[in-house]
Amino acid sequence: MKNLALNTVRFVAAGIIAAGLSTSAAMAAEGAAVESQSWTFTGPFGTFDRAQLQRGYKVYKEVCANCHSMKLVKFRNLAEPGGPGFTEDQVKALAAEYEITDGPNDDGDMFERPGKPFDTFVSPFANEKAARASNGGAYPPDFSVIAKARPDGPNYIYALLTGYEEEPPADVEMREGMYYNHVFPGHQIAMAPPLSEEIVEYTDGSPMTVEQYAHDVVSFLMWTAEPKLEERKRMGLQVMIFLIVFAGLLYFTKQKLWSDVDH
Ligand code: HEC
Repeated sequence: MKNLALNTVRFVAAGIIAAGLSTSAAMAAEGAAVESQSWTFTGPFGTFDRAQLQRGYKVYKEVCANCHSMKLVKFRNLAEPGGPGFTEDQVKALAAEYEITDGPNDDGDMFERPGKPFDTFVSPFANEKAARASNGGAYPPDFSVIAKARPDGPNYIYALLTGYEEEPPADVEMREGMYYNHVFPGHQIAMAPPLSEEIVEYTDGSPMTVEQYAHDVVSFLMWTAEPKLEERKRMGLQVMIFLIVFAGLLYFTKQKLWSDVDH
């Protein structure tokens, strides 16, 4: 019986270790081609870096949002716990920078008004056809869940953003309007390199380099894809702690119950 209890404890411990490792194992299996970056949000204790999410939002807003929509995210999400941590007033100001088409009003007409926190992010194109027409026939995918829609999303998007090469290898014939990227499947992508040094102004002293922009915008995209990541990890840890304590209690209860019995 003693063995059984010990085995239970071992089993629980193995489960905890396996749970911790499975994320990195799964990522390694899928993302063999791209290099793994260090992110604040991976691992069982992962959290987002608020300042980084705010910078990432700036990169998205000033660069990516010219082509990529984000239809599932609302301005007010930017102030919710576990996110970039903007204040309510900052969110109001950010939303008000946009003109939103609303309506119809009592006369049946659509009208323009400043954005409000409850509005969704404004899409750059009216519809998919318009988006394709402006991008040489290619469609810039919506960004709401992009970091989870690609295998090993964060590392892949980082590698994609930093994976452009000005000179394609000699044996590659480029199609018109395409750019060489060694990470994109097929190596020819219709997206021009979106990032370059100092394209976005940072005021917190972070380096204004392509690598830093890519890290920041990818962290932001990870948050939009999984806004409850921090809550989920916290809950997971609490469950683990509970299981450990519970396993210990079971063990001692068993010891006590069997202490008077010859065995
Ligand atoms: C000028 C327009 C434009 C801008 C700006 C732009 N993109 Fe794109 N993006 C595109 C187009 C077009 C595609 C589709 C490419 C294709 O299918 O060949 C694309 C595709 C992508 C993809 C999907 C790649 C895949 O695996 O399918 C990602 C990720 C991406 N862009 C990230 C970004 C990020 C991050 C930014 C901002 C830093 C950004 N893009 C800025 C036009 C743009």
